[in-house]
Amino acid sequence: MKSYVEESGFFGKENPEELAEKYGTPLYVYNEDNIRQHMKKVAGVINKYPYRANYSMKANSNLSILKMALEEGLNADAMSIGEMILLLKAGFPADRIFFVPNNVAQEELQFAINHNIMTSLDSLEQLELFGSLNPGGKCSVRINPGIGAGHHEKVITAGKKTKFGIEEHDVDAIFEIAREYDLHIVEINQHVGSQYLDPQPFLEAVENFLRIAEKFDELEYIDFGGGYGIPYHKLEDEAEFDMEDFSKRFTALLDAYVEKHPDNIPLFKSEPGRYCVAEGGVILGRVHAVKQNYGNKYIGTDIGMNVLARPTLYDSWHDLEVLRDGKAVTEGERENVYVTGNICESGDLLCKDRNLPVIKRGDLICVLDAGAYGFSMSSSHNSRPRPAEVLITKEGTAKLIRKRETYEYIFSNLVED
Ligand SMILES: Cc1ncc(COP(=O)(O)O)c(C=O)c1O
Repeated sequence: MKSYVEESGFFGKENPEELAEKYGTPLYVYNEDNIRQHMKKVAGVINKYPYRANYSMKANSNLSILKMALEEGLNADAMSIGEMILLLKAGFPADRIFFVPNNVAQEELQFAINHNIMTSLDSLEQLELFGSLNPGGKCSVRINPGIGAGHHEKVITAGKKTKFGIEEHDVDAIFEIAREYDLHIVEINQHVGSQYLDPQPFLEAVENFLRIAEKFDELEYIDFGGGYGIPYHKLEDEAEFDMEDFSKRFTALLDAYVEKHPDNIPLFKSEPGRYCVAEGGVILGRVHAVKQNYGNKYIGTDIGMNVLARPTLYDSWHDLEVLRDGKAVTEGERENVYVTGNICESGDLLCKDRNLPVIKRGDLICVLDAGAYGFSMSSSHNSRPRPAEVLITKEGTAKLIRKRETYEYIFSNLVED
């Protein structure tokens, strides 16, 4: 069996065992080169027309990673006041931030208006609220094009079974509200879903969206959303998302639109999150107990569902490597095991019945492809502090980019009598 972390030189000049000892486990470790390479790829998807990729920071909002996105020339999108504050702190100017909320209170819209941040409105009521707060202003509307895509029903964000966007048949109602408040709908945006390796559903959604775009006459931007997938089964050589082929097919669809509107070419946009950061992050966790329970073998680690929620939430697959004395175990006996965490929930499982090298107490488990929706979805469930985050820099050395939470920190908001 191969080792991705060793073959790719993921830990640079560092040794994973020493990182675990120095910073403790569970520990998120990121590789700067890997993240920057992915960011460069999304930035260059469309070269023929004005184009900007927005880094969707919900995938990973560590300040060091946001600064990389800024340096790589990406814009960024935010879902909340907190995310807008972080982007401003990272140095993004307001005109490189896109606020894409849903169901938000007036003060969230007001925050974006006060900071001149372009905002997408996700329903007719939110558009009306925005109009009443910012008459004469510019904004985007999120359209639900009726087509969705993604790896799990919980991440399909368009189509007939999601809460997102405004249906196409409500376009006239959009124009009515815009007229009432003198709003300029200068952008339309969509996001059909997350983690597809076959771009076909996305491209179909692009084609459909360009048809819908014809109904709007003030468009300065058309934003197609994100969702490009990554190979979570990389140890079995799963193919990567083919950016080159995608780029050609995407450009061809834009050609058709531009041919019809040669004098009014908008800035085309996308919103990738996962693709930028997923493969550039792993989790190191320690094995604390191994046991048999009614015929199944359980490997008990400190990587609970509070550290990585995806397997519990979506039944997501993450490749796992076993590290012993700082080296990947790639040979020897193997067996089928359940790898679990230390949280009091039976759903606290990293994998079920997975064939792995025989694991001993004290080994490290390395969870691959944990850079997206990993730390950003972590919690302090069971009063466990969130992990630290370390970056393997371009120089190949480790830099702490987020401290491990302390008990004092997680209890700091408790009010005592
Ligand atoms: C509106 C919007 N844009 C972009 C994204 C990023 O998706 P991904 O990380 O799959 O690229 C999401 C993910 O949920 C989203 O909701």
